[in-house]
Amino acid sequence: MSATILDGKKLAETVRAEVKEGVAAFVKEHGRAPGLDVVLVGEDPASQVYTRNKEKASNEVGMRGKLHALPADTSEAALFELLAKLNADPAVDGILVQLPLPKHIDEQRALDLVSAAKDVDGFHPMNAGLLASGRPGLVPCTPRGSMKLLALALGEKKLTGARAVVVGRSNIVGKPMAQLLLAEHATVTIAHSRTKDLPALCREADVLVAAVGRAEMVRGDWIKEGAIVIDVGINRVDVPGQPGKTRLVGDVAFEEAKARAGAITPVPGGVGPMTIACLLENTLIAAKARASSR
Ligand code: GUN
Repeated sequence: MSATILDGKKLAETVRAEVKEGVAAFVKEHGRAPGLDVVLVGEDPASQVYTRNKEKASNEVGMRGKLHALPADTSEAALFELLAKLNADPAVDGILVQLPLPKHIDEQRALDLVSAAKDVDGFHPMNAGLLASGRPGLVPCTPRGSMKLLALALGEKKLTGARAVVVGRSNIVGKPMAQLLLAEHATVTIAHSRTKDLPALCREADVLVAAVGRAEMVRGDWIKEGAIVIDVGINRVDVPGQPGKTRLVGDVAFEEAKARAGAITPVPGGVGPMTIACLLENTLIAAKARASSR
């Protein structure tokens, strides 16, 4: 039996269409579009592509999207001043500071400065705390998107009692993903680089989430027959025998895993497209929450 391939591109289109409808209703009710402001410091090529895509995607659903591209030598004070200005601007519903920031800027302080109500990345300690307490707040986009793909794989089935293993303990993906799985009553284990006998642990997982950033680390024989595999990794690797040519692979050896899994996300076209769709969704959620709290 070959695994169901979970089509993130298609699901992301559905989410975007729903957000577009929500945005139109918001404009009708409040006489303005929800606004997303993306802040990029420096010229990292990948971050430039990601932030341009975020700006474009927000405009496509009818939001006011703006990219603030600042030079790499922007001072910490200047960045913090911009964040304070965006926090105070009533037309701004969502603020996203693209990571990584240049070394001379304290990343933690920058993230802490974004108003929790506008923190569409869900990285503010207030939102992380709300998620850990099972209370409503803004949830990080990649785990949210991963949960939607998981729901697609499950259909009518529930996660209650399922064994979930999350490989990776980052604040951006691993930890919030574990919280979301726990909220759905899964039995969750967070594994990481120092976990003993990782393959054996993964083989117990009904749901396996790989978020380590190491190309094809999870092999086919780490996967329980019929498991749902969510691959969060995006790694660029050289194509053997073709100098200068690269391709994208996940944290899971896809072809091997496909032969054993019940369902699996591809890379590219799995979790990746869901992240921006969920960012748009978070911006609409933030806009509605702010509008109703006035
Ligand atoms: N850099 C890589 N992933 C992310 C993300 O989800 N949000 C932000 N702000 N920066 C990132």
